[in-house]
Amino acid sequence: MMIATSAPGTATALHTMLEEVIAGLSQDQKTLPSKYFYDERGSKLFDDICELDEYYVTRTESSLMQERVADIATVIGPNVLLVEYGSGSSLKTRLLLRNLDRPAGYVPIDISGEYLSQVGDSLQAEFPQIEVMPVVADFTKSFEIPSPNDAETRRVIYFPGSTIGNFQRNDAKALLARMAEMAGEGGGVLVGVDLDKNRDVLRAAYNDSKGITAQFNLNVLRRINNELGGSFILDKFRHNAIFNDYHSCIEMHLVSTERQTVNICGYTFEFDENESVLTEYSHKYKVEAFRRMANEVSLNVKNVWTDADNMFAVIYLERDLSTRALFTSRFAK
Ligand code: AVJ
Repeated sequence: MMIATSAPGTATALHTMLEEVIAGLSQDQKTLPSKYFYDERGSKLFDDICELDEYYVTRTESSLMQERVADIATVIGPNVLLVEYGSGSSLKTRLLLRNLDRPAGYVPIDISGEYLSQVGDSLQAEFPQIEVMPVVADFTKSFEIPSPNDAETRRVIYFPGSTIGNFQRNDAKALLARMAEMAGEGGGVLVGVDLDKNRDVLRAAYNDSKGITAQFNLNVLRRINNELGGSFILDKFRHNAIFNDYHSCIEMHLVSTERQTVNICGYTFEFDENESVLTEYSHKYKVEAFRRMANEVSLNVKNVWTDADNMFAVIYLERDLSTRALFTSRFAK
């Protein structure tokens, strides 16, 4: 069973994509949403990125999860409804599902419907005793979490991959607040966070020598051409990833190599020579800064697991019951 709010490829999904693309390209600093990297080709390119020597992120998180999953499962506790923000195709999901104590169900949430249903089917086959309930939705917007047949003790939102880093700090905070709300009373949030580190290591990870990240970045233009009838000439844009020191984030850009005009669905956009389109942020956190941000939305850090080199953190947060009690008693007066 799959629940669809707005399945990609449908008129609604294309309309949303068009609106977001037009809005992004109409700003002074042109932008495109990074979630549109991931069609079939983009997801394949991302898998290739994960194999690169320079790209430590996925590898580090996976081995961290492998080493610590028993401990993580103990902290999370029995009979949870695991809600994953993302398709659940990763090794990390399987690790968790294998190690959790009798989970009440598993709900992967993704905007890519075709991919999600494949992943859902194969996970259901691999874990026949766990109720798998995929939901096609954009997790930055509101959606319903289905109830499992078995009673759940709590909901745990799983957000791996440091995808939280794609959001600017205020948006990341808002998303955390939303997750806390979705997790509900007594619920938890398990999140993978890429940590601040040596700038050369960071720059190399996003400017790989094989140019796979460049292809991944350009894929968003290819998609706009294919799905929205755009007229981008991919050879006239080049990939550039820079480290923004002030915000402590990688910024991926597509830089126009010449002055040019691009049409999308009857809209016209002018690009100056060397004008860039900002396509992705990848924020790098210090554990303390992440803790402060979580506290501001009434989430408490219960556990932090990091690798030996402090490259990546898996952080478990729970709703701050004492703060809530304070609110309740204040309103009760
Ligand atoms: C999947 C969001 C974690 O920000 O590192 C990889 C995506 N972009 N190379 C990241 C990405 C360029 C990636 N995340």
